[in-house]
Amino acid sequence: MATGTHTGTGRADVFRKCYDFKRADEVKAAGLYPYFIPIEGSEGTIVTIDGEPKIMLGSNNYLGLTHDPRVIAHAESIAKRYGTGCTGSRLLNGTLDIHLALERDLADLVGKEAALVFSTGFQVNQGTISTLIGRDDTVIIDKLDHASIVDGCQLAAGQTLRFRHNDMADLERVLKKAESNSGGKLIVVDGVFSMEGDVADLPEVVRLAKKYRARVMVDEAHSVGVMGPTGAGAAEHFGLTDDVDILMGTFSKSFASMGGFVATEAKVIEYVKVHARSMIFSAAMAPYAVATVQKCVDILKTEPERRERLWRNAEYLKEGIQSLGFDTGACDSPVVPVIVGEVMPTFAFWKDLLIAGVFTNPVVAPAVPPNSSRIRTSVMATHTEDLLSQALEIFKKVGKQHGLI
Ligand SMILES: Cc1ncc(COP(=O)(O)O)c(C=O)c1O
Repeated sequence: MATGTHTGTGRADVFRKCYDFKRADEVKAAGLYPYFIPIEGSEGTIVTIDGEPKIMLGSNNYLGLTHDPRVIAHAESIAKRYGTGCTGSRLLNGTLDIHLALERDLADLVGKEAALVFSTGFQVNQGTISTLIGRDDTVIIDKLDHASIVDGCQLAAGQTLRFRHNDMADLERVLKKAESNSGGKLIVVDGVFSMEGDVADLPEVVRLAKKYRARVMVDEAHSVGVMGPTGAGAAEHFGLTDDVDILMGTFSKSFASMGGFVATEAKVIEYVKVHARSMIFSAAMAPYAVATVQKCVDILKTEPERRERLWRNAEYLKEGIQSLGFDTGACDSPVVPVIVGEVMPTFAFWKDLLIAGVFTNPVVAPAVPPNSSRIRTSVMATHTEDLLSQALEIFKKVGKQHGLI
């Protein structure tokens, strides 16, 4: 029931849209509301929900490092030394020596001159893109790029143009259209698309960027730690590190923490550092988060077998889901979507998977195109084959119940 001084006065009220919003209540009444599910405990691959163990197939913990005892011990010791938070912006009182050390390690990892860490990956895209795209410039993005890229473009002074998902002929059409613009051009793509699990056609993006004199930025959120000979990401995977001008990544996935980084030429980092509002007007990444990422980078470098296990698990899950007869789209990464179509059948499938023992993520528009609602699954290096085959059995049983296979 709407309350408050504006109710019934006939005056416009910014709360009106909230009082009128019924969709979440309807889905809750149907017993199918799938968001903000509280997890009571976690061992990484197994989580506890409502007192019951569930196989976790819905996290971005690709290397399975969130519960690694070495990572936890390092985070604890750094929290003891520096405290629990920085309580201020990097610009003023929030820069620690470990931020700078981590930036050197990350620049080294991805093969760029310099790097800059922000408190979230979202802030990296928002701050970097809005800072670099001036009034006369054009930013060109894939229609399925992450929301943080879209928001960065919205904050930018210049023009934003979009091309069809991973469609290089359409990218060329857009680049031609932008030729008459007087300013510079930046193409931004996800390395691995988060809801599709497919990989950007970077060789073609780079070729077209050279032809039309555009710069290239790759969001490696789902590819750093996962792809490439040293785990540096999709650009490294294609041997294009030097041809991609800007790389960004997050710490909320393979690096088992929170925060993000951008890596590029030192002169560009120096500029972004003092212009990006999401860097300047937001508190610095917490010390224990920095420590977590430092340890994860060390482990990534010294334990390549983790990535091998991750890819074995990704293949195992993908082949298993496909052989059951589900549609997984064009995925080629540890993200394996199971495409259902309509929203409510997707929520109903998700719910029964959870009851049967598997935690997944239901994804609907606008995160994916309408009528392409899906269950997003993703594997970790630490899933055992036994656990994944248990999950596949559950997909088989529930998929049949729902008439999906
Ligand atoms: C492709 C992509 N870019 C950026 C982000 C933002 O990262 P963060 O979670 O660190 O804010 C995400 C995470 O959801 C992502 O999937």
